[in-house]
Amino acid sequence: MMFIHLSLLYTLFLLLANRFRFKNTQLDLNKWTEQETDISWNALLRNINPPGAIRGFVAASPSTYYPDYFYTWTRDAALVMRVVVENYNEEVKRLLHDYVAAEIYHQVTPTRCNCLGEPKFNADGSGYDGSWGRPQNDGPASRAITMMLLAKKSPEHYVKKTLVTPIYRDLDYTVDVWSTPCFDLFEESEGLHSYTLLVMRRALVDGALFASQQGDSGRAATYAQVSEKIYARLEDFWERDHISVTQEHTGGLYKPSGLDVSVLLGVNQAGLPPFTPGSDKVLATAHALEQAFETLYHINKAHPDQLGTAIGRYPEDTYNGYESGREGNPWFLATAGMAELYYRAALEWESDQSNVIVNDINSGFFGRLLAQEPEKIMGTTFQYGTPEFNMLINKMADAADRFMATIQYHQRINGSLSEQFNRYTGFEEGARDLTWSYASFITATKARGGHPAQ
Ligand SMILES: *[C@@H]1O[C@H](CO)[C@@H](O)[C@H](O)[C@H]1NC(C)=O
Repeated sequence: MMFIHLSLLYTLFLLLANRFRFKNTQLDLNKWTEQETDISWNALLRNINPPGAIRGFVAASPSTYYPDYFYTWTRDAALVMRVVVENYNEEVKRLLHDYVAAEIYHQVTPTRCNCLGEPKFNADGSGYDGSWGRPQNDGPASRAITMMLLAKKSPEHYVKKTLVTPIYRDLDYTVDVWSTPCFDLFEESEGLHSYTLLVMRRALVDGALFASQQGDSGRAATYAQVSEKIYARLEDFWERDHISVTQEHTGGLYKPSGLDVSVLLGVNQAGLPPFTPGSDKVLATAHALEQAFETLYHINKAHPDQLGTAIGRYPEDTYNGYESGREGNPWFLATAGMAELYYRAALEWESDQSNVIVNDINSGFFGRLLAQEPEKIMGTTFQYGTPEFNMLINKMADAADRFMATIQYHQRINGSLSEQFNRYTGFEEGARDLTWSYASFITATKARGGHPAQ
C-alpha cells in the first residue's frame, strides 16, 4: 500500500517537475547549433587522451562510476575519431596518430574473445576481460572506415607504413565473420544485425577501392564480392513496414517490435544505395520508430510545438543509463541521428534532382511530415524544381530542426550532453559527457549545414 502511494507521489512529482522545469534560455536554433558545435568539439577532445590512460585512449565518457564508461569501445572510438578525421588539421593529426597506434595495439592484444570483435579495452590498453556481449563485429568495420578516411588525408608514407596493415586486418576479419551472428552495437542482442551489415558493407566497398589503389587486386576483388553478398543479405531485412533490426537471433535480448534506431544510424554512417536516407524503406523505418516513441515516452505526449519527438534506441529498452530492468529513456545520439537522417534525405533528393513520389511504402512518413492522411496523398509527385518540391524540402528541414530543438531543450544549461534524458522529466540521465553524443551532434550539424560527413 505504502509502495503504491509513494510511486503515485513520485509520478506526480515527475509530471510537475517536467511542467515547471527550468528552461534553457532558448537561443535561436542557428546560433545555438553553432555554439553547441563548439562545446561538443571541445568536450569530445577532452575525452581523447584523458589523464590516467594510454595514448590514443578514447573514453566513451569520463564517468568512472555509476555508470563506469571509462573504457575505449572500438565502435565508439571509431565513430568519434571519424569526426576528428573530418576536421583534419595539423593540430589534431597527433591525436589521430595516437588513436591509430592504440588501435593497432588493441588488434594484436590477446583478449577474451581473441578476435578483432572484442568490444572494449581498459585504460591501460588491455582487453576488458569480464563477461560481456562479445564479439561485436561492427567495431572492426567502423575502425577500417575511419582509418581509410584518414588515409585519404594522409601522406603516402604514413598510409603505406602505418595504415595499410591494420586496415587489411579489419577488412579481412570482416570478410571472415560477416555472416556469423555477433552482438549488436547496443551490446545486448546476438544475431545478424542490419546496422552491423550496413557498416560492414560500406567498409568493404571502401576497402575494395583502397586495396586496388594499393595494388592489391586480390583483396580488392574479395572485398567487392563479399560486399555484394552483404547487400543481398540486407535486402531480406525488410519486414512489411520497416527494416528490421536483427535476424537469425541466437541469444541475448530479443526485440519483438523489430524496431531500432540503429538502422537509421547505420544509414547515416554507412548507407549506400539502395539504403540511403531518402529511400522509401528507410523513411518507412523512421516513421515506424517515431510512431513507437511518440506514445512510449511521457515527454512526447505534451511538448512545446517547436520540439520534435524524443527518440530512444528501441521500444523494448529497459536500460535507464545506470542499470537494466528499468524504464529506458530517449537518447541524444538517437534524436540527433533522426535529425541527421532528415537533413541527409533532403540533400539527397536535391542532389539527385529526383522527383519524390508518395507510395505505399513511404506514405506513412510523408503523411506525418505533411500532416495528411497517408491514403489521401498516395501517388502525389513532388517534381524536382517546382514550388511543391521546395515546400517538401523546407518541411524536412523544419522537422529535422525540431529534433535538434529537442536536444537544445533537454541538454544541460552549460551545453553538456550525457547519454540519455529522462522520459518523464526530460532531465539528463546516464553517463555524463558521452563522447558519442557529441560526435552525433556534430555530424547532425554538418548535415544541417549542407555538408554531411563522408
Ligand atoms: C557541464 O557541467 C557538468 C556538471 O558540472 C560537467 O560535468 C560538464 O562537464 C559540463 N560540461 C561542459 C561542456 O563543460
